[in-house]
Amino acid sequence: MTDIDPSPHPVAAPGCPVHPDAVPLAGLEYQQTPSELYRGLRAEHGAVAPVLLDGGIPAWLVLGYPEVSYVTSHDELFARDSRRWNQWGSIPPDWPLLPYVGHQPSVLFTEGEEHRRRAGVITQALAGIDQFELARDCRHLADRLIAAFAGSGRAELMSGYAHPLPMRAAVRMCGMPHTGVETRQLVEDLRISLDAAEGDDPVAAYTRVGERIHQLVRHKRERPGPDVTSRMLTHPAGLTDEEIVQDLISVIAAAQQPTANWIGNTLRLLLTDERFALNVSGGRLSVGEALNEVLWLDTPTQNFIGRWAVNDTQLGGRHIRAGDCLVLGFAAANTDPQLWPEAHVGAENSAHLSFSNGEHRCPYPAPLLADVVARTAVETLLERLPDLVLALEPGELTWRPSIWMRGLTALPALFTPVVA
Ligand code: HEM
Repeated sequence: MTDIDPSPHPVAAPGCPVHPDAVPLAGLEYQQTPSELYRGLRAEHGAVAPVLLDGGIPAWLVLGYPEVSYVTSHDELFARDSRRWNQWGSIPPDWPLLPYVGHQPSVLFTEGEEHRRRAGVITQALAGIDQFELARDCRHLADRLIAAFAGSGRAELMSGYAHPLPMRAAVRMCGMPHTGVETRQLVEDLRISLDAAEGDDPVAAYTRVGERIHQLVRHKRERPGPDVTSRMLTHPAGLTDEEIVQDLISVIAAAQQPTANWIGNTLRLLLTDERFALNVSGGRLSVGEALNEVLWLDTPTQNFIGRWAVNDTQLGGRHIRAGDCLVLGFAAANTDPQLWPEAHVGAENSAHLSFSNGEHRCPYPAPLLADVVARTAVETLLERLPDLVLALEPGELTWRPSIWMRGLTALPALFTPVVA
């Protein structure tokens, strides 16, 4: 593409203004009461708000349902290659959002024909997954995780269940065995690189992830099997090994965090909302309804960075300049007061934007597979530990300090010990 500066750090467009009313996209309200905050921003700034990212870097937060739908379905106007950004000259080398925004040669940053080629391979490789087998695998993974804490009568369900289950399911889909040192190390390095804790080295872990996925690709070239990696390797589009490694890492990363938080946010809803009254038999709303309600009201990917304007254009009454960055406000769009004027979000259908929309949306059939993983995880836990309750008051649960992912820091629970 000729209109993209190939350098990751070109000089900022001259005079790129910070909007005088720009709101810092940070703070406690994003964790505690994001829907009220988005309504407030919306009332004050309209459907497209000027915001400041870490370090005071200007961007636009797209809050309206029609505006998010418009941006995501017009990739010729709002494109994915971040090298378009007119702010690179102001970005320090240690900027915290660089891992998400810095250009990588993966499907995530490709556009047009090249994106269709790469995303087409992923779609077909995922479409080869048998959903019944996936559910069986997930039940098996769930049972192993539950067995590790079932005898103690207590568990921290985020680190002990909601995070490891989709990670193991994703690694398994790609053709790694359930068990074994290699798989365990890959799962641990993925955890560190996606969700580093105190004392972890995410850069070193990410390098090891790359090496292991390379090994997996080499192994599957020699001995293909019924898995996503082998289907990508044998696809007629003829992706190189390097492209497949990049896209496998994107698939695993894209699958892990959102699905883990979908499971965690659904368990929180089931354990705290009396409409779901888990302990009272009869009359409760179903796990499926809880999963869907979470996608409307507590969606895992609450904000996503992003898209970059191809030309000067208008959006929601704002003048957007070529190279401006737009953050997709999925949580705000799902609760848009123009859709839900009474402040009650219906949540009966699946017209939310939680899987995005348009060319770069979460690729079919990934949302269906994520549903199988999340549903199996929640149902298996409730079947095995039917008297599960929260170990603290609902108001004591804390959200992760992130404006991007909505998920709990911990979900401590109690139950009658069982021999699993
Ligand atoms: C099996 C689980 C999943 C897989 C394999 C998966 C895979 C992917 C991939 C490969 C992409 C990149 C698409 C592209 O750039 O062309 C993507 C994007 C995305 N996914 Fe998923 N995903 C999964 C689960 C989820 C879940 C549970 C959510 C949220 C509830 C989610 C929300 C999104 C969003 C918001 C995007 C960004 C789309 C955009 O740029 O507009 N995904 N996913």
